[in-house]
Amino acid sequence: MAAITGEFGLEAKMANSKISFEGVNKIYRAKKKQVVALQDIDLEILDNEFLCVVGPSGCGKSTLLRMLGGLEEISSGSIVLNDQSLVGPGADRGMVFQGYSLFPWLTVEENIAFGLKLSKKPKKEIKEIVDRYIQVIGLEKFRKSLPKELSGGMKQRVAIARSLANSPEILLMDEPFGALDPETKNNMQLLMREIWEVERPTILFITHDIEEAAFLGQRVVVMSAGPGEIKKTIPVYLPYQRNLQLKEAPEFITVKKEIDQIIHG
Ligand SMILES: Nc1ncnc2c1ncn2[C@@H]1O[C@H](COP(=O)(O)OP(=O)(O)O)[C@@H](O)[C@H]1O
Ligand SMILES: [Mg+2]
Repeated sequence: MAAITGEFGLEAKMANSKISFEGVNKIYRAKKKQVVALQDIDLEILDNEFLCVVGPSGCGKSTLLRMLGGLEEISSGSIVLNDQSLVGPGADRGMVFQGYSLFPWLTVEENIAFGLKLSKKPKKEIKEIVDRYIQVIGLEKFRKSLPKELSGGMKQRVAIARSLANSPEILLMDEPFGALDPETKNNMQLLMREIWEVERPTILFITHDIEEAAFLGQRVVVMSAGPGEIKKTIPVYLPYQRNLQLKEAPEFITVKKEIDQIIHG
């Protein structure tokens, strides 16, 4: 269902809740040690929202994302997804990580088609979807290339296309641009915003980069470490359609400062 979207793309209160973390705790137990990775996490993610989570290393960002992906058990509390208790991984949630995790023996187009082939879609439909996403990520000339022939940014574009091709309702992205040079990172951020503005998946995007969180998110969740907690969630009142010039604008710098003060203040 479409959410109600205002001037800034911020959803009204009546918008649907897609995901909710309710009193979620995560304790990792090793032999003699235990680490409280997450404590009392209450978090609502709305349908079609682009939500960024920012915080220092070790504050539990990856743990949060992996639990939502069904890859990590919850110690206590619950995660509700589409009004149902989350049980494990599912095709409704696509994941993109920092390490490109492409199949090295498959070409760009084969990598993107991988999940579609598993789901036994008709060949013609697979080709249409693959063509479309190769175009979205601008790699038409590289469709027959192997991952080893691509730059880091190109590989990460393929990883994003591979996730999107399966049309997941939710995209879980864990520092996907963390290893890229600044210019490629900027271009990837722009691409991600463009994809989101058109396709409107619900996105949980993890980063430790304040500027990235401010540029991408409709809201930014700020976490702190030891134990991992949510410090504050802030709405980002920036235009719905964003371009890289925005990063120089005073209102953008204000958002960055606000996040920085929550982290360091
Ligand atoms: N499998 C694990 N076993 C034990 N401790 C872990 C494990 N995974 C993460 N941790 C600990 O949990 C805390 C949160 O980790 P993580 O979610 O990776 O944080 P972030 O992604 O914000 O850097 C850290 O203290 C980390 O050392
Ligand atoms: Mg992490």
